Amino acid sequence: MNLYQQYSKIFSGITKPAAWVDMDKFDDNIQINLNRANNRSVRIASKSVRCVHLLRYLLNSSQQFNGIMCYHPMEAALLAEEGFDDLLIAYPSMCRDSIVKALQASTKPVKMYFMVDRVEHVELLNALAAEFNITANVCLDLDMSVPFPGLHFGVHRSNIKTPRDAVTFYRHIKDFQHIKLCGLMGYEAQIAGVGDNVPGKMLQNLVVRHLKKKSLPVINDRRTETVLALIREGANLTLINGGGTGSIESTIQEPLVNEVTVGSGFYCSHLFDYYRQFKLEPAAGFVTSVARQPTESIVTCNGGGYVASGNAERIKMPKPYLPQGLRLDSNEGTGEVQTPLHTGQCRQELRPGDPVFFRHAKAGELCEHFNHLYLIRNGSIEDKVTTYRGNGWAFM
Ligand SMILES: Cc1ncc(COP(=O)(O)O)c(C=O)c1O
Repeated sequence: MNLYQQYSKIFSGITKPAAWVDMDKFDDNIQINLNRANNRSVRIASKSVRCVHLLRYLLNSSQQFNGIMCYHPMEAALLAEEGFDDLLIAYPSMCRDSIVKALQASTKPVKMYFMVDRVEHVELLNALAAEFNITANVCLDLDMSVPFPGLHFGVHRSNIKTPRDAVTFYRHIKDFQHIKLCGLMGYEAQIAGVGDNVPGKMLQNLVVRHLKKKSLPVINDRRTETVLALIREGANLTLINGGGTGSIESTIQEPLVNEVTVGSGFYCSHLFDYYRQFKLEPAAGFVTSVARQPTESIVTCNGGGYVASGNAERIKMPKPYLPQGLRLDSNEGTGEVQTPLHTGQCRQELRPGDPVFFRHAKAGELCEHFNHLYLIRNGSIEDKVTTYRGNGWAFM
């Protein structure tokens, strides 16, 4: 039986569309990513998992995992209630209610860190922490983008761009009574989140590889010098975080980085197929079924249009996965409620009622479209667990 036949059998009695995680492949990805991290601590990016059961499963699977990188203070508060005790909220927030909830949850044994890069973040945190007479642990976000002539290679996030900026900021926040700087995060998005082996994009791949190579020493120096400068100023940095799924190999080259983040590399959404340095297993996706057949060489499925965030490009659409050889229609793409697929290159005959399996472009966003994940192992469904959406958790 090929994989399509196996998956078809597994999902024969399940209402579709439905989302799935192949736990055998998920386990393989855990091992591949831990090996890539070569004994360095790994923090799990919750945004790329969005399922409490699987976050817990990941943490329990190895001592090398050391905590969660959350994306919202309300999420961190809820995860603390669920028993998670090391929570780095990686994106600053100005949402008072959520910060209050996170502060209330950040008492022992829960370690909670709030990301900051502007004085406004610190002022708000300090004022709210003062109300409870507690100290908010903060982590400074260092911008890791690298400018090239005519090109900003990286993302637009942090206001702190140099070691000097970091020191100036630290001198300023040192005096806040309810704030303690505990960490530094530098996320090199242009290495971790940009594929350099995209099919059909030879020229783009060469340019991206060249830019990555040029920017690595800059990133390395900036992060290292910033950490050293803050230490010289008296900061006690216990958490120095960098990287993501796409950059583990280069991030761990920096001895001062004591943890690397991984999220997307567990499900391995299809954007993570396009990196030269590593190969992961396609572990998650959704299944829908053929509902119509407008021509002999086209079948049309229900649903499918779960397009990933970021700039609007074709690559952000879900990718038909099984059976092999299906192709999206260039005019329609993945549709709001229907998705046509060209079957010319597909050896499997498809008729109304047959399942079709897709992979999402980004990992965690899959979970925003489904209340449950079917966990499959050894050829059958071993569990059905709720996603964040299934819990009623929506943070963005
Ligand atoms: C701050 C931060 N760290 C790490 C990551 C890496 O996450 P992933 O491994 O899911 O690509 C991201 C992704 O956007 C991020 O924003």
